[in-house]
Amino acid sequence: MLKGKHIILGISGGIAAYKSVTLLRLLVKAGAEVQVVITPNGKEFITPVTLSALSGKPVICDFFTANTGTWNSHVDLGLWADLMVIAPATASTLAKMAHGVADNMLITTYLSAKCQVMIAPAMDLDMYRHPSTKHNLELLQQYGNLILEAESGELASHLVGKGRMEEPETIFNRIEEFFSNSNQLAGKRVLITAGPTYERIDPVRFIGNFSSGKMGYSLADECARRGAEVVLVSGPVSVSANSPAVKVLKVESAKEMLEQCLLNFSTCDIAIMCAAVADYHVKNSCDHKIKRENDEIPQIVLEKNPDIAATLGKIKKQDQITVGFALETNNELSNAKSKLLRKNLDMIVLNSLNDKNSGFGTDNNTVTIIQSNGEMLHYDNKPKIEVAKDIVDTIIDNYL
Ligand code: C5P
Repeated sequence: MLKGKHIILGISGGIAAYKSVTLLRLLVKAGAEVQVVITPNGKEFITPVTLSALSGKPVICDFFTANTGTWNSHVDLGLWADLMVIAPATASTLAKMAHGVADNMLITTYLSAKCQVMIAPAMDLDMYRHPSTKHNLELLQQYGNLILEAESGELASHLVGKGRMEEPETIFNRIEEFFSNSNQLAGKRVLITAGPTYERIDPVRFIGNFSSGKMGYSLADECARRGAEVVLVSGPVSVSANSPAVKVLKVESAKEMLEQCLLNFSTCDIAIMCAAVADYHVKNSCDHKIKRENDEIPQIVLEKNPDIAATLGKIKKQDQITVGFALETNNELSNAKSKLLRKNLDMIVLNSLNDKNSGFGTDNNTVTIIQSNGEMLHYDNKPKIEVAKDIVDTIIDNYL
């Protein structure tokens, strides 16, 4: 599976660098072509001679090769790679990656990489749990990188806690998994709705909701990562898609969202309706700013919005799969199941507002996936990008 794959192994200056030698050995044995890029501090922990002997290629550390003056092109490297793995990633390297501090070859290569980047952090426990490290890891995850969380255990400092780099065998398994998953949705077209809708009251005011779009955008990136062509119809959000395979169509209202969905649905194999569509729009919306006049209180008259999921459910063909979401506060399961039937969905993802650190605006979610055949699986609280993987896995395992 790894035969002929081009992998950049980035090594920064932490004691866990010794484990990267095993990882390199495993990758080369599996047939991958590996280019090691090391930071100046990384060389203090592991010698380039070992790494070049094992990879069969000169190790890159500097922008120029001193004796020949040859320029090491980070741009070419970034284009060459099918995957970049940074293991170990120290606190300093994470910070530079998160903020684009391009002062060494590893960071310039990272910034030029067009491929997926996997990051295996390693550091002492206090550094790992420091708010700045946590924030940098969150940023890097938001940018679409895959984070292989550090493990707990004894650290080089003899302290015990979270900060140990994942074992090389585990990292190797994640790399194999990445390549085996990467074409599962090849040739498939996926339509996704995300974010809130804004229903105008007048040119400066609207009715909206707290949806951040994070779940829908994570799903879009995950589908693209598995090889799908993705059309993302998005309400107003501040997040963005990481993958160039995601075509984003920005809309404002439920009516506009429905229009875009109808234009794209017939050519899609899968539709995932993740948007928090407003139930109503303003019937008596005003085309000029409503003024505060005397004591008169303006009355907003609401009118029902179209149900996009139900509309697509009515026109879907046998080979099309539709997935919906349900955000419930009470009678969660029965409400979700009746929505699944009413909207003719193949699957519904239930998230409960009763769960802390879950739902609107958060980075995490706790979901139960319910299928139309009654099968149901509850998942633990996890980052939305991981939830997206569970959802996409369920679609692939059960419907494709
Ligand atoms: O009925 P409820 O809004 O709870 O249903 C949630 C599901 O239906 C979500 O998948 C949501 O994206 C979709 N929906 C829709 N159009 C609406 C309302 C909800 O597509 N007008």
